[in-house]
Amino acid sequence: MEKLKEIILEAGKIIKRGYQEDAKFDKKSASELVTKYDKEVEEFLISKISKLYKDYEIVGEESFNLDTIPKKAIFIDPIDGTTNFVHKIPHIAISVGIWDGKPIEAIVYNPILEELYSAKANEGAFLNGKRISVTNIDSLEDSIIATGFPYAKHLMGKEYWWVVDSFKKLLPKIRDIRRLGAAALDLCYLAEGKFNGFYEINLKPWDVAAGILIVKEAGGSVSGIRGEEYNFDNQIIVASNKKIHQKLLENLGEYSGR
Ligand code: IPD
Ligand code: CA
Ligand code: CA
Repeated sequence: MEKLKEIILEAGKIIKRGYQEDAKFDKKSASELVTKYDKEVEEFLISKISKLYKDYEIVGEESFNLDTIPKKAIFIDPIDGTTNFVHKIPHIAISVGIWDGKPIEAIVYNPILEELYSAKANEGAFLNGKRISVTNIDSLEDSIIATGFPYAKHLMGKEYWWVVDSFKKLLPKIRDIRRLGAAALDLCYLAEGKFNGFYEINLKPWDVAAGILIVKEAGGSVSGIRGEEYNFDNQIIVASNKKIHQKLLENLGEYSGR
């Protein structure tokens, strides 16, 4: 874990350098951006981490091309929050989750704010080495809930309407909603007690693989939209401080998909 941390801190320097430059980007689709730094950071991480975890396969956002997710996998999001990176909003993270069927180790690092979240299965969750835990809030009325929107807004059918419906239903019941633009950090902010809940549709394994362990080790819950155990086939992820989980599920719109 200490070696993994060192590698990720080093990769953070590449992001810091890029953050100070005028950001050049390409478009993966109408609203999904990618920069040379997404690729450079991923290549750096793969070259170092694959030597540490030899019998694991890499599932990195910029390079993954298999049809199925391997059981033993290292999930890498080199820059979670690329839109923030391009717009110079300091809410950006490297996310690395190590899984062997279930999550084993996780690190989410925001190099701009120098905040490193980490967790190991059964050993708790930490921010810069200090233990963190979810809140004790048990009412939606006192809850801040984070979410995000899929890039394929223009293409989405029922997923799009679910996003709109979930807002209509949930917003009047809660203190407020936040959309900060980096799902890995949303999960860490929940683990740390800044947020009380989080949900999003159509995230990818590299967005959540690390954050899931950090939330669970901080005492929170993670599930699919019907309260079932979350797996990467689920379209919707719902996470919370545990106490509001059922109420959050009941107040998100009905969804006919996975
Ligand atoms: C995105 C961020 C964002 C979420 C998007 C993700 P990226 O990841 O996590 O918060 O709403 O759905 O794709 O593209 O910046 O790595
Ligand atoms: Ca991401
Ligand atoms: Ca990314």
